[in-house]
Amino acid sequence: MHFELSEEQQMIKQAARDFAQNELKPGVIERDEHQKFPAEQVKSMGELGFLGMMVDPKYNGGGMDTVSYTLVMEELSKVDASASVVVSVNNSLVCYGLEKYGTEEQKEKYLKPLASGAQIGAFCLSEPEAGSDATSQQTTAEDKGDYYLLNGTKNWITNGSTASTYLVIAQTHKELKHKGINAFIVEKGTPGFTIGPKENKLGIRGSDTHSLMFNDVKVPKENRIGEDGFGFKFAMKTLEGGRIGIAAQALGIAAGAYELALAYAKERKSFGKPIADHQAIAFKLADMATQIEAARLLVHKAAWLKDQGLSYTLEGSMAKLFASKVAMDVTVEAVQIHGGYGFVKEYHVERLMRDAKITQIYEGTSEIQKLVISRSILA
Ligand code: CAA
Repeated sequence: MHFELSEEQQMIKQAARDFAQNELKPGVIERDEHQKFPAEQVKSMGELGFLGMMVDPKYNGGGMDTVSYTLVMEELSKVDASASVVVSVNNSLVCYGLEKYGTEEQKEKYLKPLASGAQIGAFCLSEPEAGSDATSQQTTAEDKGDYYLLNGTKNWITNGSTASTYLVIAQTHKELKHKGINAFIVEKGTPGFTIGPKENKLGIRGSDTHSLMFNDVKVPKENRIGEDGFGFKFAMKTLEGGRIGIAAQALGIAAGAYELALAYAKERKSFGKPIADHQAIAFKLADMATQIEAARLLVHKAAWLKDQGLSYTLEGSMAKLFASKVAMDVTVEAVQIHGGYGFVKEYHVERLMRDAKITQIYEGTSEIQKLVISRSILA
């Protein structure tokens, strides 16, 4: 067993850390306050190759491994989870889905600009009545011969207004239930496709979350991904990798809050010594560091399994379940260590605490991860 990072992985991690500290940190509080999408920063992340990290270079990707992707996600998320969710959705849900299951024409037309960061994508599965219960798709895609006619509403779509390319899941053959579901590539600006207002969220407030409405949207037949009826499996397989990315995001949020709490505890004095020298605080830091390290091992193991071409369904869900709980617990403790300062925006930890909560909700709630894990261990 090797736990060391390769030289290349260390360099990627350092590049992401430098970018996060130098480019994401300035302005992160204001972007959170005003729900401002980090447009310039996303452009820079595209130039750095963070938006199509694992895609084959022949489609403009970075050709990197999943472990490297989790390192980047961790470093970015330490500072700005609103920016890192763009990286996660674009890499794991959009680029991965297109590269793995798209046709050569789809890859040329849609994957290349997404992997280079020239465009960003969105993954549209959730609906008002179909969040966790993803088989209950109400959005319909009627087969009209040369094209499909798309009707319905999608909810909570990350990159909802900033994306150019949308992967949309919809029901074609209702009688076949999940086996009648399809996945489609829909371009922004297609007539009948409208974008609802931005959601006003508790956390990841800079990220661009919208409802999307499809009203008699014509989607060319060649924009269906995979065989007729492959859409649900497409969504499930894609989400499996997504869970590793979000687990890494949760890990980063926890590690970011921990780094701030550690630095603060060494500086802040009470009763004549740094608060870190009080056992009450030192033991908190010990627990936080241990939880983070355990989460990191789970995240890296799931990523490593994916890189080996082995099954990672169970480990990806375990990593997400555990890391998101760690993110929540550690950020609460980081606020506590900061005392009153932790409750104000300037110290960053209150934002990390708010951001942590979404990691227990999106790409499958913690309850969904427990379902996947229990089914796997009981099978
Ligand atoms: N890989 C391949 N196939 C899979 C699969 C997987 N990981 N999981 C399920 N399937 C297949 C099953 O084999 C089955 O196929 P067959 O009938 O051919 O055997 C089919 O899918 C149905 O499976 P289940 O009977 O297990 O379906 P279910 O409804 O009981 O449970 C679920 C499935 C795990 C709960 C699933 O619905 C799920 O993951 N739900 C959560 C959805 C989710 O994560 N939503 C978040 C939206 S995306 C998001 O947040 C993006 C964003 O913008 C940030």
